[in-house]
Amino acid sequence: EKGTYPHFMLKEIDEQPAVIRKIVQEYRHEKEGIKLDKDIRQAMLDTDRVYIIAAGTSYHAGLVGKQLIENLAKVPVEVHVASEFSYNMPLLSEKPLFIFISQSGETADSRSVLVQIKEMGYPALTITNVPGSTLSREADYTLHLHAGPEIAVASTKAYTAQIAVLAILAVDTAKAKGIDLDFDPLQELAIVSSAIEALCDQKDEIEAVVSKYLETTRNCFFIGRGIDYFVGQEGALKLKEISYIQAEGFAGGELKHGTIALIEEGTPVIALATQKNVNYSIRANVQEVVARGANACIISMEGLNEENDAFVVPAVHELLTPLVSVVPLQLIAYYAALHRDCDVDKPRNLAKSVTVE
Ligand code: M6R
Repeated sequence: EKGTYPHFMLKEIDEQPAVIRKIVQEYRHEKEGIKLDKDIRQAMLDTDRVYIIAAGTSYHAGLVGKQLIENLAKVPVEVHVASEFSYNMPLLSEKPLFIFISQSGETADSRSVLVQIKEMGYPALTITNVPGSTLSREADYTLHLHAGPEIAVASTKAYTAQIAVLAILAVDTAKAKGIDLDFDPLQELAIVSSAIEALCDQKDEIEAVVSKYLETTRNCFFIGRGIDYFVGQEGALKLKEISYIQAEGFAGGELKHGTIALIEEGTPVIALATQKNVNYSIRANVQEVVARGANACIISMEGLNEENDAFVVPAVHELLTPLVSVVPLQLIAYYAALHRDCDVDKPRNLAKSVTVE
């Protein structure tokens, strides 16, 4: 039930701190630190390459998951859009492990890949919010998101939950491999949870960003580098899906290879700046679009922020920034849709779970 909330989406955005806390609680082990199914741990140790298969928002979480698993556990990862996998099937490694990421666990595109790779005899792990779902039942192993039912078509808390669980899986694998990390995911996720809580108290500021940058626009670009690029893609999906504003996420460095031709007087460009190593270059991209008339809105992270940034999110570990930087983007999409009188929870032409290929 929505309770006092006008929309499920807003309620689900606000639930994110509690979901992260729940995940921390569910995956905590008194003695070992992380509690994880031993068979999953072994599957991660046995594989020479992980193939993440997902669609939409879950695919965007997978892109972040690749960074986490490669950086922390040093296992190579490929991320594939489920509906494309069969046509563009890569040369598989000797010991692949398939990870299906799906909020609903019912996405037909992902299921068809699961059927295919099971016929080939490969192991599969499903990360889902619905443990009894098709993708969960038909895979060898399941990791539960513990996010509670997600009703709004636009996925919010499932995305943050997916990244949190992928971070835990990555660290667990690193530990099992004997890699020395000075990164306690449960402690870092607790910091993330408080940061999201602080962001959820700043809704008026985000609504003001929407009024200033998006009120009458027909299009909007999101730019970022590294992990921020992936979050920009998710921000664009959220915005287009519920407000019908044409939105795309681009890598900052790709702008000058074509996209910059679309920048006109007043075009909104939302830039993410949460990564120290690319802070200078993403801000240079912002200068390039501003010089062509763009209405640039910088969302940065504490410690990397500059005077005219539109919004600053609290600092968290650099690998976990998507968990906080996505929150203003979710809220931007929400208020943009609200200001346009769109049906926030049930956008046109879309279903919550896509059970046809
Ligand atoms: O249930 P799934 O995570 O497998 O769903 C995948 C996509 O259909 C889903 O994430 C979709 O992109 C959302 N509506 C985006 O907000």
